[in-house]
Amino acid sequence: MKKVARAWAPASLSNLGPGFDALGAAISGLGDTVSVERTSRLGITVDFDPLGVWMGPTDAPSNTAAVAARHVASASGFDWNTDGGLHLTIRKGLAAGTGLGSSAASAVSAAVATEALLGVQLSEKDMIAAVVAGEGATSGQGHADNVLPSLMGGFVLMRSAHPTDFLRTEGWEELSLLIALPDAEVLTREARKALPTTIPLSRAVDHAARLALMVAALEGKDVAGLGTWMMSDDIVIPARRHLWPWLDDLAGAALGAGAAGCTISGSGPAVVACCRQHDNDDPQMAIRKALEHQMERAGLKGSVSMHHIDNHGALLLDGDQAISWRTGKRLPKPNP
Ligand code: HSE
Repeated sequence: MKKVARAWAPASLSNLGPGFDALGAAISGLGDTVSVERTSRLGITVDFDPLGVWMGPTDAPSNTAAVAARHVASASGFDWNTDGGLHLTIRKGLAAGTGLGSSAASAVSAAVATEALLGVQLSEKDMIAAVVAGEGATSGQGHADNVLPSLMGGFVLMRSAHPTDFLRTEGWEELSLLIALPDAEVLTREARKALPTTIPLSRAVDHAARLALMVAALEGKDVAGLGTWMMSDDIVIPARRHLWPWLDDLAGAALGAGAAGCTISGSGPAVVACCRQHDNDDPQMAIRKALEHQMERAGLKGSVSMHHIDNHGALLLDGDQAISWRTGKRLPKPNP
């Protein structure tokens, strides 16, 4: 019987324009690690590794990782009040409130580590339910647009209320992502309060058509189409625009430097630009510089980083080995 298990899960982009609450993508180079340990003290407890980049509240009932772990334990028939306790240590590789799926990365790595610790293999449906519940602890709603990509890698589109109906696409080696992350925190729970509660039928039809075109671009690995449609949301971004006064200028700078598209990720503040990487013409450095320059001009503190799509999703960390949750394949270990 294992005493401790550890897992890593990537950060993710979400919404990507008209894919509000339905579309997300896992990104390389950023993620959270969660260790889950059996303890003699009953219950589920949480703390944060001080070596991580962020530490949050350790109130276990509402902690996203603890909620996901609890669901996995429960679905495995493990009772933390009688069978022995579980202690989670979360090492954050990204801060909360960035729009890059920070809570999802914690929920997913906690679920994967708990499953390994308990020596069970839950159905895909039960794992999805566990990570969606974990995400719900943070946002107040169980949308799956960050947790599914974080669990499975690639781009994932799913019906929010029915997270087992999903479409996943991977690959995208030629896609470069530039992420501008201003030093600001936007809480998803708050950003959701800015949303309209109803929309006219004609706008719903228009929105559905835009998302359909986005899906066609995803299926065709069409970077220009992806860029165009990620900028086409006419419902959610207009309602939240006041939360991100930097968006238009950053998007203008990225597009001017050759980006195929640029939009907000999730509820922000992160802004993501994309471009196609070619051997002879690689605009990513020019876009990075343009974003950095624009942030400086606007007096915005923060960073700009370069990423790719992470096609693997969550990894179980076992000594020197990293094992994909989705495929069971051994892969290179991510940076802590
Ligand atoms: N789809 C969610 C939202 C993602 O936009 O509220 C939060 O990052």
